[in-house]
Amino acid sequence: MTVLITGAGLIATHSAASLIDRGEDVVFYDVAPSQDYIDLVLEGRKYKLVKGDILDLAHLLEVANKHNVTGIVHTAALLPRQAAANPSLATKVNVEGAVNLFELHRIANLKRTVFISTVGVYDNTVKDGKAWREDHTLGPHSYYGCTKLSAEMMGLHYAKAYDIDLISVRFCPIFGIGQYYGSSGAVFMKNVVEPAALTGKSVISEPFPNTYQYLYAPDSGEAVALAYKLKRNPKNRVFHVSEGRLRKAKKLIKIAESALPGTEISIAPRTWEASKGNNAVTEPFNIGRAKRELGFKPQYTMRQAIQHYAEKVRERGGL
Ligand SMILES: NC(=O)c1ccc[n+]([C@@H]2O[C@H](COP(=O)([O-])OP(=O)(O)OC[C@H]3O[C@@H](n4cnc5c(N)ncnc54)[C@H](O)[C@@H]3O)[C@@H](O)[C@H]2O)c1
Repeated sequence: MTVLITGAGLIATHSAASLIDRGEDVVFYDVAPSQDYIDLVLEGRKYKLVKGDILDLAHLLEVANKHNVTGIVHTAALLPRQAAANPSLATKVNVEGAVNLFELHRIANLKRTVFISTVGVYDNTVKDGKAWREDHTLGPHSYYGCTKLSAEMMGLHYAKAYDIDLISVRFCPIFGIGQYYGSSGAVFMKNVVEPAALTGKSVISEPFPNTYQYLYAPDSGEAVALAYKLKRNPKNRVFHVSEGRLRKAKKLIKIAESALPGTEISIAPRTWEASKGNNAVTEPFNIGRAKRELGFKPQYTMRQAIQHYAEKVRERGGL
């Protein structure tokens, strides 16, 4: 029973760890993988790795056949910054690439696909004082969000029309030791934790969202594994996964300073001016459905997450 994991980045590697711990074999499929990075996250767990492009359906079919693949976790994508810089390529990778995975599922008669979706599919201006449920108003505010929503809608249509047993996990920003740092939330946490872990001091000089919700990468991996293992053809196919609460940047910095004793973390004054009014979401996700139907519960407190993240940064070394 092998899971084909597209991408070998932040969510892919942490998902692999959780899937392997549940008895699955995994094969990563990534266009530019780093074995050192995968090894850092997988901590001795065994995996297979194939270098390839999700735009190449024939190669995906060959790999699935060779490795006896029975399901897919589809993470490979261009993230917000890359998508904004190259919308045409992002359309190909995020939409056409996703359709290739849905086709692979259909042709090879696989059992389950987990599609990794995002908070970026929603209209983030709606403010009604209620935590967002999975039927919150859609309306992406970035090109990235447009591509992810398109691909997710196509996947859900494949589920109905072609009997593809697809689950979509809509994540908030995920943070942790990365190979790339493509989302604003991951970049902010990197700027808070990584220099402090290595030098004792962080000065944040890149603008960031002042209000956001977060989840530590190992918890995202657990959510993906739970979604992968969910019973066949469940009632609901879309799940919110986050910590289920909002965080303010300065409060996060306070938690980080207390979690990493002796560190000093500050925000450059101009960066604070540019960031203080930037509230990326109006409310947190309501994660009740993921709790009830997936059995998801974040395992790390924010303090534990920051401490664990700092340990991984020290293990990797360098800045
Ligand atoms: N990181 C977050 O905060 C976050 C939040 C919500 C949703 N997501 C979604 O999760 C998924 C993974 O995000 P991540 O943070 O792990 O990203 P990441 O950048 O760490 O990993 C993405 C991987 O995809 C690979 N890739 C890109 N184009 C490819 C192609 N054409 N063929 C094969 N591989 C390709 C990259 O080489 C990279 O290793 C994405 O689909 C993203 O939309 C991420």
